[in-house]
Amino acid sequence: MPRLAFGGDYNPDQWDRDVWREDIRLMQRAGVNLVSLGIFSWSWIEPDQDRFDFSGMDEVIALLHEGGVSVDLATPSASPPPWFSEEYPDAQFVDHLGRSLGHGSRQGFCPSSPDYRRRAGVVADRLARRYGEHPAVVMWHVGNEIGGYNTHCHCPTSAEAFRSWLRARHGDLDGLNRAWGTAFWSQRYSAWSQVRIPGATPGRTNPAQQLDYYRFASDEVLACYRTERDILHLHSPGRPVTTNFMAGSFKWADYCAWGTEVDLVTNDHYLVASDPEAHTGLAFSADLSRGIAAGRPWLLMEHSTSAVQWQPRNTAKRPGEMLRNSLAHIARGSDGACFFQWRQSDSGVEKWHSAMVPQGGESTRIWQEVVRLGAVLRRIGEVAGSTVTGEVAMLWDYENYWALEMGGRPSVDLEYATEAEAWHRAVWQQGVVCDVIPSDVSADVLSRYRLVLLPSHYLATPGTVRALTAYVHGGGHLLVGPFSGLVDRDDRLHPGPHPGALRDLLGLTVDEFLPLREGAALTLDSGLTGRIWAEAVHPDGTDGAVVDARFADGPAAGGPALLRHSAGAGLARYAATRFDDSSLRALIAGALDEAGVGSTAPGAGDGVEVVRRTAEDGRSWLFVLNHTDDTVEVACGGVELLSNTTITGRLTVGAGDVAVVRESGSPDAG
Ligand code: GAL
Repeated sequence: MPRLAFGGDYNPDQWDRDVWREDIRLMQRAGVNLVSLGIFSWSWIEPDQDRFDFSGMDEVIALLHEGGVSVDLATPSASPPPWFSEEYPDAQFVDHLGRSLGHGSRQGFCPSSPDYRRRAGVVADRLARRYGEHPAVVMWHVGNEIGGYNTHCHCPTSAEAFRSWLRARHGDLDGLNRAWGTAFWSQRYSAWSQVRIPGATPGRTNPAQQLDYYRFASDEVLACYRTERDILHLHSPGRPVTTNFMAGSFKWADYCAWGTEVDLVTNDHYLVASDPEAHTGLAFSADLSRGIAAGRPWLLMEHSTSAVQWQPRNTAKRPGEMLRNSLAHIARGSDGACFFQWRQSDSGVEKWHSAMVPQGGESTRIWQEVVRLGAVLRRIGEVAGSTVTGEVAMLWDYENYWALEMGGRPSVDLEYATEAEAWHRAVWQQGVVCDVIPSDVSADVLSRYRLVLLPSHYLATPGTVRALTAYVHGGGHLLVGPFSGLVDRDDRLHPGPHPGALRDLLGLTVDEFLPLREGAALTLDSGLTGRIWAEAVHPDGTDGAVVDARFADGPAAGGPALLRHSAGAGLARYAATRFDDSSLRALIAGALDEAGVGSTAPGAGDGVEVVRRTAEDGRSWLFVLNHTDDTVEVACGGVELLSNTTITGRLTVGAGDVAVVRESGSPDAG
């Protein structure tokens, strides 16, 4: 594997041989060292069922090898060819209205289909046997963004697989009836044949049934990955196998559970073009990728050199933005920066998507920035393998994401990912790094943090509550958002008054949820402002929480809005509303202060992103990314790697520019 990977998705089957040779020349020019090859090449290498043609692939891999470019070889299972749909009509994807969707796009298959899994396995097997020991092939890339379009299939095969999954989870129908609370609305099942995938129903569907279906569906797409991964491990031992995640943007794959299934966590990230602060969303996705990787280095498998083509308004990246984006991912633990795609398509769905080689070729700004990025990555290659550790953690999990947003809750306006990202952004703005880690966490892991954030953690498991309780009793600081601690894994209310599972730890009772009308706002007596949500809360007895601030108006006027509870040696705080961004920022700033967390370096925060990576041998690097339109100063010392200058105490970074400093005190990299 290259030190810092640099390259992109390479889809040579769109081009003829002359272009392949030109591609290698350009890759060398830019310093590309890794390409993800053949992600959608199924119909190229298996044009008809069991008729394989590897001649083109052989040639491309040989050219890449001669050119010194390593290959992350893909299995093409994300896009079965038209012959597959014709041969296996029952393997087509069926939507929630029971419509079988045709081919002509990608991912048009049912993940539970045995025919799909078998045929995907056949082509993976042929690739692994043919190229598994090839010196150019350094990594395997299974499918693409698994489940992206087709996680929730509603065909009869999926329904049968769902019943088997439920039998394994609940044992018998009594167990299922209990877990799903089927006593309500006369939903008791008396035979397994009656149990269906939740699809279109006249009224609302049973929420525990939906939650189980989401778990099942995530497990099914994971099973597709595992089938191929095991084949690749068998025939290509020692080479890492991965599949590219969409951490932070895709809801339906439980990546927290997938982290241990891949040999290297890889992630795709695309900026939300309409958000002028999109770099904070980038940081969230990167911090979550690192959390899923349990703190180890991961790899940014895809981002864009400039505009995408699938958002309503696809704004181009401004000069320097692509470099900042790339280094922001690397700052947060990615060992490289890769793109979709190497060469801009001249036909098909994505021809208006930017690429490393634009249609206009070497004279374009984008190409010149790609070449610059290649040079920058070579200069900072020594950071590869180092890690990032925040002093603040936010717990994150997909079951909460699904459960909180399932509908039938007090307000549609309280959304899981929106809350998490808003809290994360408030930390980012203080120049502090926040690890986003799976909620299924031990007290031991939590004890490394000074502050733990738990925004709207609706579904609380005994394991998480135990870990949080031990963490706080051991001296940790915890900040909990509204509508937390309420239900178990089956979406059943925890016993006793709200907030059920977190009541003891928070030392308070929530008497009522009082969501606001659309657009309404409220104020606290401390001056902070909120919207969307309020709760009627009271502290529990004399040992309970104390009130820091009260609602000045709104549906809970006069009642506590912010509370703190000393538990053991630590502190658990509760926010009973959803704060506006500036108030959230003030709240988080106070919590950081109280927990003794300062910014990564003086000067960090407010659009100046500063992140530290540290190597086992004690070397450390500061990544400084200036997202503002002004020149900024950050206090640090060491050697700035891009300009090779010595920094003594003060680093100046121009508007929109970046710097990477090997900090003084670090043993010289040589
Ligand atoms: C990703 C996908 C790529 C490409 C890209 C465009 O989600 O993996 O194949 O479609 O989006 O932004």
